[in-house]
Amino acid sequence: MTLDILAVPIEIGKKIASNRIVYQPMECNDGDAEGKPTELTLKRYRALAEGGAGIINVESLTFTYESRARKNQLKISEETATAFERLVREMKEVNPNPLIIFQINHSGRVSGSAFSKVVSLYPTGDSSTHILTDQEIEQIGENFVKAAVLSKQVGADGIDFKHCHGYLCGEMLRPANTRSGPYGGRFENRTKFFRETTEKIKKAVGDDRFLIGVRYSFYEGIPGGFGTSGPEEVVEDLFEPLRFARMIQEMGMDFINVSAGIPALTPEIVRPTKNYPEGVYRHFGWTKMVKKLVSIPVIGSGYSYLRDGKNDLKEPDPSKKSIFYWAEKNLRSDSVDLIGIGRQTLADPQFAQKALSGNVDQIHFCTACGGCSVLLRSQVEVGCTVYNEYYKEVLRRIRKGS
Ligand SMILES: Cc1cc2nc3c(=O)[nH]c(=O)nc-3n(C[C@H](O)[C@H](O)[C@H](O)COP(=O)(O)O)c2cc1C
Ligand code: SF4
Repeated sequence: MTLDILAVPIEIGKKIASNRIVYQPMECNDGDAEGKPTELTLKRYRALAEGGAGIINVESLTFTYESRARKNQLKISEETATAFERLVREMKEVNPNPLIIFQINHSGRVSGSAFSKVVSLYPTGDSSTHILTDQEIEQIGENFVKAAVLSKQVGADGIDFKHCHGYLCGEMLRPANTRSGPYGGRFENRTKFFRETTEKIKKAVGDDRFLIGVRYSFYEGIPGGFGTSGPEEVVEDLFEPLRFARMIQEMGMDFINVSAGIPALTPEIVRPTKNYPEGVYRHFGWTKMVKKLVSIPVIGSGYSYLRDGKNDLKEPDPSKKSIFYWAEKNLRSDSVDLIGIGRQTLADPQFAQKALSGNVDQIHFCTACGGCSVLLRSQVEVGCTVYNEYYKEVLRRIRKGS
């Protein structure tokens, strides 16, 4: 096995990623009360920049107090722009090479009821959830546009218009979105917000070098979820997720990041663990289907669980189990263009640099223990609870209930 293929640069829109490793967005809930990056956030991102990935997809950034899933979620707005400018500047000072992409998001029904406003496109079964009007949806579109423009102003190389993991735009896509009016029902209606907002973003940004892409959940794993055949159906039907991939390309976007699942409902689909090791194959298959259909760069997800091959996959040949085996195989077989790494970046921000320089024996491999997800669910600051003493202590406190 040679990892040379990971080091091959690739064109994304009018920019170049210097290698095939993408650090996936990983929200760590360590902003201040206004949603500005704190010293802890800056430290994290400097370490990620130093880590040597071709692309760093900065975590889920919201844009109003009313669209937050985490109490200390980072928020991009006029009041916080200077702080984000600093974040980008400090990352580029450490390492000017990685492309920096901001993931912009509205949390929709995943917003925290204690500190934000839970909204949805169609009834959730909880009568306190506010069902958005068409005018409110249009206003949210304007907020996305503003967030995209600000992302460019503060120095990001592009945005990821988030459509994954059950947040508002993911909810919009699924067959279960049967709301009446322009934004529900037929596939054309469920993708109208995406098309309208993309057009507005492009116009407002006015720079075809600024990258615009989408991360979406190809298959959500719930009745009526994206990737099923109807509003209450469990029958898997991948026609619409593939149609959406083609639509992303037709809208002139620069990349697609294929994810799956909804963390709050189907976490093992989002991030495979020993409970569902075969989930990694599903990610690779879905990504390959997208890759065969489009010509823009495709980023794949779900790799961290593979580690150095010490995992529970029922694969008799141990040489065919590791993250490196699958990264190389998927790249060489043209099943993906870039390898997206999630939890592994928390476990070892230096992952890319160590992998690219052949020092794989020095990598701290993610154990897929779920500690970081416990921290995220507990609304505290997030990091690796196995290799980082600071977050180990945060987890200890959570478990003690203090
Ligand atoms: C703590 C934590 C935070 C995450 N934050 C985000 C996020 O902000 N945006 C996003 O699209 N995905 C997020 N994810 C999902 C990851 O980006 C990734 O898709 C998932 O962990 C599977 O990839 P992996 O197997 O490499 O970890 C998060 C996952 C975890 C565990
Ligand atoms: S806490 Fe566990 S799952 Fe999270 S990054 Fe660390 S080792 Fe991986």
